[in-house]
Formats: sequence, C-alpha cells, structure tokens
Amino acid sequence: MQKFKTIIEKVNPKKPEKNKIKRAADLIKKGEIVAFPTETVYGLGADATNTLAIKKIFKAKGRPADNPLIVHIGDREDLKEVAENVPEYAKLLIKKFWPGPLTLVLKKSKKISYAATAGGETVGVRMPNSQIARALIRASGSPIAAPSANISTRPSSTTAEHVANDFEGKIPFIIDGGKSKIGVESTVVDCTGTKPVVLRFGAITKLDILKITGTMPEDAVNEKRKNSVPKSPGQKYKHYAPKTRMTLVTGKTQAIRAKKIKKAIKEFKIKNKSVCVITTLANKNIFVDADAVILLGLESNLKEIAKNLFGSFRAADTFNLNEIICEGISGSGIAEAIMDRIFRAADSVI
Ligand code: TXA
Ligand code: MG
Repeated sequence: MQKFKTIIEKVNPKKPEKNKIKRAADLIKKGEIVAFPTETVYGLGADATNTLAIKKIFKAKGRPADNPLIVHIGDREDLKEVAENVPEYAKLLIKKFWPGPLTLVLKKSKKISYAATAGGETVGVRMPNSQIARALIRASGSPIAAPSANISTRPSSTTAEHVANDFEGKIPFIIDGGKSKIGVESTVVDCTGTKPVVLRFGAITKLDILKITGTMPEDAVNEKRKNSVPKSPGQKYKHYAPKTRMTLVTGKTQAIRAKKIKKAIKEFKIKNKSVCVITTLANKNIFVDADAVILLGLESNLKEIAKNLFGSFRAADTFNLNEIICEGISGSGIAEAIMDRIFRAADSVI
C-alpha cells in the first residue's frame, strides 16, 4: 500500500475555512482518499464517479468488495445525478430529514461507479448535516462515496484521532472537525420497494419514519437477528468491535445488570483475567474489582451514550486488558441503534 505523510488539518465546523477545504477537495479530484467529519461518524471519502479512487477505499479499510458504500451529496438537487425512480415516501423522508443521519437506498444512476455499489443496481445516498462534509462535497464537484473511517470490523471513528489510529500513513489527509455529534452511523432505509424497509438502525427511528410516511417501515435488522444464534452474535455479525474480547451484559434494570457485571468480574478474576468495565452507572466505585472502568454516559441521556459508544470501545482497548464487560441499555428509539452496535461488537452475551 502507498505510504503517505498524513496531514491532519483542524477545520472550523461552523465556518469551514475555504483554503483548507480546497486542499482536501483537490486531493479528491485527483482520485485520492480524504477522511472527513460528519454528524454521525467520520467518513473515508473518494470521488463516487472514480472507480480507481473507490477501490483505494476498499483496500485501505480491508473491506469486502461485496459491501456497498454510501454516496454523500452536498445539496438535495444533486440527488438526480446519483439516483433514479425516487418514490413519493422517500421524497417525504428527504424533505423532513435531509440534511441528516438518514441514508436512502435507491436505484443508481449511470454516473455512480459500480465499485461504490458493489456491482449492484442500487445506491445508498445521504446528505450529511455537517458544514464541513457539504463544503468538501461541493468543492470536489462530485458526490463522495464514503464508508465509516475505520478498519473493517473495528469501531467507527468519532474523532480525527480515531481515524489517525487506523489510517496514519495510509491516506494523505484527515479533516479534524471535532467529536461527532451523534456518534452512531446513519439509519439506512431501503426505498426500492413499495414500502420503506429499515436495513440499519440509527438516530432516525422507525417511529420517525412512520410519522412522516404514514407507513410503519419493515424491519430487516431484527428479522435478521432472530435468524442468528442469539448467544453468539459475534460469530455472524462481528462489527464495530474492540480488539479485546467483549461480553455484553443485558438486563431490564440497572440493578440487574450491575449484579451480573459484579458476578462476571469475579469469574474472570478467578481465571486470573484483567477486566475493563464499560458502564452507565455513575457510581463506578461499585466495580472495585475491575482493573479499569469507563463511564459510557447516564442511561437518562441516551444521546450522550450514543456519542461516547465507539470512543469507549477504543479507549477500553488502550488499557490492554484481557476482557471487556460492556453494560447494555434498555429502551427504544436511539437505544435500539446503540444496542444493535454493542450486540454486533460483542463476543458473548450474558
Ligand atoms: O453515518 C453513516 O452512514 C456513515 C457516514 C460516514 O456517512 N457511513 C457509514 O458507511 O456508516 P458504512 O459503509 O460504514 O456503512 C454503510 C452501510 C453498510 O451496512 C452497507 O451495507 C449499507 O450501508 N449500504 C450501502 N449501500 C447499500 C445498498 N445499495 N444497498 C443496501 N445496503 C447498502
Ligand atoms: Mg462502517
């Protein structure tokens, strides 16, 4: 792989400096990769019409070639360049939620490279609500294909530092726009049929979609999980994962989960294993036997938990311990998106 001296450039998220954006856009125009912030997570971007440039993304991430990328646009009008046959319910979703954390899967236009769609006839499209991302897309003069800026199977990046940890030396440029506001990836909705189908949970929930379209979307996420072996989600769906082995602790209430966590710590300790606990319990002292404790955020503030989630996974790895015990949460809405990520990242569930 080509070696780069990676430039990390701080850019003002409210008023992106034109000269800095131009520097990044010139690289995109030349067929290079640029990492950039969005409100969900950081993206690893390339010109969506340039097959060679897109192939560099797959290579840098170690991403399987059959997993399509999301194409990002700077303005709603640009959708016609990227996709065709947009159904009415999708137009309603666009009107309400763009710019924002919603990706729509639509029929692809000719202009978009098959490398971005993994050879398929559909394309995932999103207009991000980040001034930096949109300024970059506009200055590049083309839609930008971008997966989350992490090595395949690793947690998504919510800071420029996370991106640098995964891609320093492998890409020429990282735009640092601070910590991502939302912290989990966009909701992905398949809009190629008569009804919306949710393919990935995110900040925009099934109820949000129902409210706007008048139709409860089908749920391909839970359907898929029901068909997997519930005790071992890591086998089939490993994704977003820390390097350290992770156990997810489920339970309706914090008290139930705290009890389970204490028991799990004890069991690991008997086996001489060191443990990091990721928890929503403000009183971290109750896990005195753990070697490290990370506060994910309070359960009363789900947005904070979403924002801290991937950073906590990465932070847990830095302790270099044997095991991570991650507390799950209960609730609907964005809680579902959070739990989906922890589920897939975990090696086992108790
Ligand atoms: O928030 C986000 O969506 C971030 C930021 C950077 O925009 N991007 C992101 O991209 O999460 P990525 O590549 O990590 O995840 C894209 C997801 C994958 O699950 C992929 O399979 C799905 O979207 N996807 C993309 N295009 C699709 C298509 N044409 N049909 C079905 N699924 C698609
Ligand atoms: Mg990803």
